[in-house]
Amino acid sequence: MPRFSDDFLTELRQRIDIEQLISSYVPLKRRGKNLVGLCPFHNEKTPSFTVYPETQSYYCFGCGAAGEAVNFIRGVEHLDFVEAVRFLCDRAGMAMPAEGYDDSMAQKRRRMFEMNREAARFFHETLLSPRGQAALAYFRERGYSNKTITRFGLGYAPDTWNSLRDHLRGKGYSYEEQFDANLVQRSEKNDRKSYYDNFRGRVIVPIIDPRGNVVAFGARVLDDSKPKYINTSDTLIYKKSLGVFGLNYAKNSKAGSLILVEGYMDAIALHQAGFDNAIACLGTALTGEMARLLLRYTDEIVLCYDADEAGQKATRRAIDIFNSVGAKLRVVHLSGGKDPDEILKNYGPERFRSLLEGAANDIEFGLMRAKDGLDLTSDDGKVKYLSLAVQYLSTVSDPLAAEVYASRVAQETDVDKAVILSRIGTLRKRRRIQEKNQRFKDVQQASMKEYARAAAQSGATAKAIHAEERILSLLYMNPDFWPSVRETLSQEDFSDETNRRLFAALTERIEAQESLDLTHLSDTLSQEEVSKLYGLCKRSEKLPGSKKELADCVRVLKEERQNKRGSAVDVSSMSDEEFLQAIRSTNRKS
Ligand code: UTP
Ligand code: MN
Repeated sequence: MPRFSDDFLTELRQRIDIEQLISSYVPLKRRGKNLVGLCPFHNEKTPSFTVYPETQSYYCFGCGAAGEAVNFIRGVEHLDFVEAVRFLCDRAGMAMPAEGYDDSMAQKRRRMFEMNREAARFFHETLLSPRGQAALAYFRERGYSNKTITRFGLGYAPDTWNSLRDHLRGKGYSYEEQFDANLVQRSEKNDRKSYYDNFRGRVIVPIIDPRGNVVAFGARVLDDSKPKYINTSDTLIYKKSLGVFGLNYAKNSKAGSLILVEGYMDAIALHQAGFDNAIACLGTALTGEMARLLLRYTDEIVLCYDADEAGQKATRRAIDIFNSVGAKLRVVHLSGGKDPDEILKNYGPERFRSLLEGAANDIEFGLMRAKDGLDLTSDDGKVKYLSLAVQYLSTVSDPLAAEVYASRVAQETDVDKAVILSRIGTLRKRRRIQEKNQRFKDVQQASMKEYARAAAQSGATAKAIHAEERILSLLYMNPDFWPSVRETLSQEDFSDETNRRLFAALTERIEAQESLDLTHLSDTLSQEEVSKLYGLCKRSEKLPGSKKELADCVRVLKEERQNKRGSAVDVSSMSDEEFLQAIRSTNRKS
């Protein structure tokens, strides 16, 4: 059990200034007694993340994230409680207590780091051994120097089922541990588990985090077979969506920016050519969290994705995401090759440097996009361009920049600049209102979460509350599911007062075949209840659900009711259905 003494935790709390702590992750602005900034736990354009120095706490009105220093570090650094405490101890120059707490998570992680390092060493040595000849030839073919191979610790996984597995076993790491690190895979036949190497017959690229730990591996085939790459999936020490290749070196670069490319092979080629600020993300889709992580190391991102359609699509997404976290952005338009690796190979570093220098900023890129496929010499083309360009410029947050580019659009289209500016102003105003509404909705959702927590404390099990809420959103989104449970489910099955009322209101309208529009429902519900229902549905929008799930949830409620009755089962008040169920469940127990 991770139990620190109260005295210890109090001292830690006193030594950490939450304002300073959070400022090192999130730029904060003073607002009265408090500070506000963009929430590090969700994507937002207007700050709803608030730090309260008085109570040494924070709360996000947008997503409901809240807590004090330890909780903040847990979330932002992805650590467990003990690890977060240790992190803060280091920061405060305090010693951890000698014992009395559960350090097993930290120990597990430490061991996994060590095992990964051992695996990397094994792969690297194999590459340089006779078994690695073909792989070494492959790297040579790609133009990698010895220095590059050493610098990135590149390696080779032999084409066997057990080389790494047996090597690590010899070093004292169990198969289970190797499995947890995704270094081996497991198969089960006739109740017998067997383990075999995950990476076989592939060149290996270790993924090293900014602190120098080997956290994962990328592995490429030597020929054209599929899949081309396989990578470590999520483990205790690695979250793929936050995986970055090359940051351990790039963070020390003097360039003042990070060049973000699609593939780690591109990044390696760039480093070898002298661009020591190149990195590659490992996750398939860039996320806000990833972008915020990168901004801890730089404030300017140079996007350099592949020239193909997929790369351009990813570029557009990335621009939106980096914009939303306030990054300075430039976008390299690759020409003469499909990716940085090819450009270096075909034309050398100078060509790439000049592409870098010619990189458009994100506004220029946005306007280029607006122009895509349009003929600006035709009136029709001009009108379409104008409308897209104005739309785009109205989203640019810096009004000065928007003004400068409005002039450019005016020239390109022979339209009066004043007209363009006024149109931008109108659209911007409209957008502000939309954003304000969105914020209002966000706030509503956060209050809903609070409510759910409170409800869970009011007696019923979390499981039952969850099932109740799920039933509500399932019925709301699929009123046609109602007949399948009409006979079994009733108000009395709900433990939570609000849920019960929502259920009654909802099913009454479904029965009457009336609209479930929230404004209509609001008639019989309080503002909080409407908010709650809305939040529930909003949060499960992407989980359409099924009748089967609904039935499962109903079963959970029935069981809850039975448990509540405890030993004194009153058979006489049971419906036939309940009676049968009670018998079934006692049979199951005996
Ligand atoms: P690419 O296929 O563009 O990589 O995928 P590349 O760098 O051009 O590869 P080479 O030059 O042929 O060796 C870009 C990135 O997408 C991921 C990898 O992280 C890769 O670096 N990827 C690609 C996979 O994870 N699996 C795949 O099968 C393909
Ligand atoms: Mn590529």
